[in-house]
Amino acid sequence: MSGELGQRFEGEGDSASPLDRKPILELKGISKRYGAVQALTNVDFEVYPREVVALVGDNGAGKSTLIKCIAGTHTPDEGRILFDGKEVHIHAPSDATRLGIETVYQDLALCDNLDVVQNMFLGRERVTPVLPPVVELLSELAMEQHALSVLQTLNVTTIVNVRSRVAGLSGGQRQSVAISRAVMWNSRLVVLDEPTAALGVAQSEQVLALIRRLRDQGLGVVVISHNLHELFSIADRIVVLRLGRRVATFDHESTTAEDVVAAITGARGE
Ligand SMILES: Nc1ncnc2c1ncn2[C@@H]1O[C@H](COP(=O)(O)OP(=O)(O)O)[C@@H](O)[C@H]1O
Ligand SMILES: [Mg+2]
Repeated sequence: MSGELGQRFEGEGDSASPLDRKPILELKGISKRYGAVQALTNVDFEVYPREVVALVGDNGAGKSTLIKCIAGTHTPDEGRILFDGKEVHIHAPSDATRLGIETVYQDLALCDNLDVVQNMFLGRERVTPVLPPVVELLSELAMEQHALSVLQTLNVTTIVNVRSRVAGLSGGQRQSVAISRAVMWNSRLVVLDEPTAALGVAQSEQVLALIRRLRDQGLGVVVISHNLHELFSIADRIVVLRLGRRVATFDHESTTAEDVVAAITGARGE
């Protein structure tokens, strides 16, 4: 069981050099309107394995709309989506999940009255119809073991007791549970909407460390954040949206916060 998570992450391999890497996900020419509001215009967006892409832009720039198109809660009016180079149709969240795309929204969607294990298996409990209650007990133990191994693989050390209720956890611990839950099901790509917005400095650090580990395990990670300092500490690439268009892309190595701010505000673009 413990091998499951490691195995699938390792699938990307260490040998993939940046030059021969192919994107996991490519959006091409995505446009989306809400009535009279043109939320996205002809947006291309791509995510490679083993990278963190930051998606930034002012309020109303189209960030949430873009990730909703990836997550399947919205369908673009125009444009194509490719996954592993093949065209796919993401019309519902279940389509995204099937591809291995998981999204963690700001509300986290955790159940406070349930414990960590129950939350991690929510809606995907291991049910064994034969021989209750013995087998039920066994699958309960198996779920607990699996939850523990996932947290261990991701080096989430802040959650000491996986049988503690989520209500009693700190904001950082809750975010860690939500992210771990998202990536434990064959995920290839995880989208995080403002994962540290509600957190203090120390807890943000824990979550940023977890995001780096997801990347190091081979996942593609998309992060929406308003905190440029934070983005500079985790992002490999920074994609800027402005008024529904992609206006700039920065390599984290060769850019400054001033460049990024200029693109966000429109003082300079692509
Ligand atoms: N459900 C909706 N109905 C109408 N307009 C919307 C809706 N959602 C977003 N918009 C508009 O689409 C544009 C992009 O919004 P959004 O994707 O939420 O941007 P961001 O997440 O970058 O703040 C904005 O002008 C916003 O007002
Ligand atoms: Mg938004």
